[in-house]
Amino acid sequence: MRHLLVTGGAGFIGSNFVRWMLTHYTDLRVVVYDKLTYAGRLENLQDVAQQFAGRYAFVRGDICDADAVAAALRDHAIDTIVNFAAETHVDRSIMDPDAFIRTDVYGTYVLLEAARQAGNLRYHQISTDEVYGHIEGDHRSKETDILAPRSPYAASKAGADHLVNAYHITYGLPTTISRGANNIGPYQYPEKVVPLFVTNALNDEPLPVYGDGQQRRDYEYVLDHCQAIDLILRKGVLGETYNVGSGTEITNLEMVEILLDELGKPRSLIRHVEDRLGHDRRYCLDVSKIMALGWEPDYNHEEAIRATVRWYVANRWWWEPIRSGEFKEYYARVYGNRKVLSQP
Ligand code: NAD
Ligand code: DAU
Repeated sequence: MRHLLVTGGAGFIGSNFVRWMLTHYTDLRVVVYDKLTYAGRLENLQDVAQQFAGRYAFVRGDICDADAVAAALRDHAIDTIVNFAAETHVDRSIMDPDAFIRTDVYGTYVLLEAARQAGNLRYHQISTDEVYGHIEGDHRSKETDILAPRSPYAASKAGADHLVNAYHITYGLPTTISRGANNIGPYQYPEKVVPLFVTNALNDEPLPVYGDGQQRRDYEYVLDHCQAIDLILRKGVLGETYNVGSGTEITNLEMVEILLDELGKPRSLIRHVEDRLGHDRRYCLDVSKIMALGWEPDYNHEEAIRATVRWYVANRWWWEPIRSGEFKEYYARVYGNRKVLSQP
């Protein structure tokens, strides 16, 4: 029996990954270790807790708390750590970078050190395409490209990647890193653009598109990402990094149009608003390395966006309580005084 610690497993991608792993493997026990910030929610795992009761456990804890992390590793005889725990929203990092540096950088260090102290446990770090920064022309980021992060979030994630590589080189810690694109799918907190826009549109509220909406992103279905992480855990070369995305890109406005079409809502809901500070215009990954390992995405952009929209339409029980809580304050802070652009 393998014993996996999934840090940040109550968040969006982490909870999808836990469900994926427990469904696909019977020789596996999963312990979710999560601080339950605004983004971490036990509802994301309520079906998992019921269906896999004998092979699933939850520990509430902070990855910055070295004693609590060491106790979780010991108490559950953990052999592998997959670290999803992070502060993840770029707009929040622009307003309040502190928690990003603490969790994304220092927290990663605490986990790496705990893995080393526990006898060099297998460690996988979930990273992001944002560490490459804005990508010019038609270049696609390769894993060997120099990191050039431009937001406090991206810089913190890049710092963590450097630490992971340092622990591999210096101490021989058996590590891998995956750098994902813009994930979408079930259980994504509605601060991120796709669930924000779907839930706004369902409430007939405007969709605040930053700037001209011509920024280019790779909207990747979360289960494609989970499948890639699973593959890297089984076949990834230690010390290596793997980009994970569909390898194709669309503009934010194209994404919005697909989303509104799926909902049957009018384009008049689109509002161009003041841009995000330091907004990266384009991310695009070269995914040939993960494909050579045997991975292929099941969803293209359009299928990923449409499937995500349908999930939010069918799961109001999940997002309606979120939008009436802390989220309201956050929304007023980010969008309340934001200038609407007449000429994007
Ligand atoms: P999320 O914000 O939905 O969830 C983050 C989880 O981490 C939450 O459950 C939260 O409670 C937990 N957490 C935060 N601080 C913690 C701490 N100090 N100790 C323990 N737990 C803590 O995030 P997500 O979108 O699922 O992203 C997961 C990971 O994937 C992150 O590392 C993120 O950088 C990375 N990533 C995300 C995307 C994306 O599009 N969402 C893309 C590429 C990479
Ligand atoms: O690329 C991977 C990254 O994707 C992850 O590492 C991050 O954790 C995740 O938050 C996401 O970052 P982005 O900044 O790309 O995602 P977000 O959903 O915030 O924004 C996607 C695009 O939509 C971006 O170009 C900004 C734009 N946007 C976003 C919001 C919230 C808008 O136009 N309006 C909005 O209200």
